[in-house]
Amino acid sequence: MRGKVVVVTGANGGQGLAEARLLVAAGAHVLAGDLTPEPSGELQQVMPEYAGAVTYLRLDVTSPGDWSALADRAAQEVGRIDGLVNNAGITRRPRLLEVTPADLTVVADVNVAGPLLGIQACVPLMGAGASIVNVGSVAALTGHYPVAYTASKWALRGLSAAAATELGPRGIRVNTVHPGFIDTPMTAGANPAFREATVAETPLGRTGAPEEVAAVVAFLLSPLASFVTGAEIPVDGGQTSHGGAKSISDALR
Ligand code: NAI
Repeated sequence: MRGKVVVVTGANGGQGLAEARLLVAAGAHVLAGDLTPEPSGELQQVMPEYAGAVTYLRLDVTSPGDWSALADRAAQEVGRIDGLVNNAGITRRPRLLEVTPADLTVVADVNVAGPLLGIQACVPLMGAGASIVNVGSVAALTGHYPVAYTASKWALRGLSAAAATELGPRGIRVNTVHPGFIDTPMTAGANPAFREATVAETPLGRTGAPEEVAAVVAFLLSPLASFVTGAEIPVDGGQTSHGGAKSISDALR
């Protein structure tokens, strides 16, 4: 990734932080965006180690103005963008009979409109060989219980596929990773029963670490994935691979 300029959204913590850390370690210049005016303490710790390789920008992914400020800055300071990781995401967990249209809108604004605005802002600065990675979820592959979140991540798959089709002829690749249960601030507040039930459905028998998602994101950004576009890679310990057969397999052991 040496010399590549990569935008990572939601870089203050969780998976975005792990992605920023891995990418700078691999030689990239990371434009790290998140909601706060200043980078988080954890992101600040990464910055001195790789002096000048991380530029932090306050970025609300739902704001077209924030995205055009990021693109202006990238154009002025580095002249191009080689990678975009649409990592920022939020969840809401009301069940089907309680969820409101407002919940759907709030979640889709961040999880779907955010990546769309990111693509629209960054693509004009991208050339052949650039790569976009959208962060989906196992919820995008299943009938997961948090309805608003599930609907938003299924929508993101559609956006990713359409973007891969449209940007392929320009040499820009668009792929999606689907994390399983990853230990981050997002899941720290989840009901412990959610964690336990997920582990029971996961052939590798554990939750994942942010670094394990970051590694696949970095691969998709890199030239190693030069013929991979429109792909979706679960990073979920096998959770979505068995189609419900794991409990049967376990019961017959
Ligand atoms: P997290 O909640 O730990 O971190 C998300 C980051 O995004 C935070 O730093 C937050 O400030 C930022 N963010 C939220 N709204 C934003 C906005 N409007 N503009 C800019 N930044 C914003 O979440 P985590 O777990 O690191 O999730 C990263 C991605 O992975 C999300 O898209 C999430 O939906 C997805 N994911 C997470 C899973 C998990 O188990 N943690 C499972 C499947 C998918």
